[in-house]
Amino acid sequence: MSNKIQMKIEDEIDRRYEYCEEHTSREADYLHEIYRQTYLKALAPRMLSGHLQGRLLGFLSRIINPGLILEIGTFTAYATLCLAEGLQDKGKLITIEGNDEYEAIIRKHIDSSPFADNIDLRIGNALEIIPKLDMVFDLVFIDAKKLDYPVYYELVLKKVKKGGVIILDNVLWSNKVLDLEIHQDERTLTLHRLNQKLSRDERVESIILPMRDGLNILRKK
Ligand SMILES: C[S@@+](CC[C@H](N)C(=O)[O-])C[C@H]1O[C@@H](n2cnc3c(N)ncnc32)[C@H](O)[C@@H]1O
Repeated sequence: MSNKIQMKIEDEIDRRYEYCEEHTSREADYLHEIYRQTYLKALAPRMLSGHLQGRLLGFLSRIINPGLILEIGTFTAYATLCLAEGLQDKGKLITIEGNDEYEAIIRKHIDSSPFADNIDLRIGNALEIIPKLDMVFDLVFIDAKKLDYPVYYELVLKKVKKGGVIILDNVLWSNKVLDLEIHQDERTLTLHRLNQKLSRDERVESIILPMRDGLNILRKK
């Protein structure tokens, strides 16, 4: 494909994304402020889910109306607070963040929201924390270390109720999974192999949405 055609396609995708964002419900003011602060101060702000994906997470959570949610990878708590929108009144959301430098900012953002009493932040390595969680989740959002996605998946599947939902972020990995002859790095291969496995895994139904960096949405059978 010529560079000119490639650029035209990318321009169309950007315009579609902007159109969708402009014609989607607004995010709450405290979410917009987290977005703004993250882009002003954080080193890798693109890790944050953002408006359109955040609205989808909030929407799905409201439909599921979970009693218990698990998030793996908090960053600045943007997605955390979107997921919390659908919680039952006394519902809980456990969110795990491995980088303790984010702790103060995460707590500040959680406290600026209506969900401060529902959120339980755990600082530490998700691979060590998840096996100790003795509970059954209705909804799980996986968004931490890409090389560990296959392990997170197996760990959380055991702890999700029948009919429960698992969402994995970044499964298209900047579209690198589409060109495996060019992209042979470990992260791309790990995500591609996991997408392949999940599409055939009899324990779940799966659908990949080409939203932002790709969301793989699973329902446990
Ligand atoms: C993509 S960001 C999360 C973005 C956030 N979920 C959102 O959508 O706004 C990934 C986060 O996972 C954290 N992380 C990476 N490996 C981890 C691990 N093993 N345990 C816990 N957190 C981890 C990183 O420090 C980073 O803050």
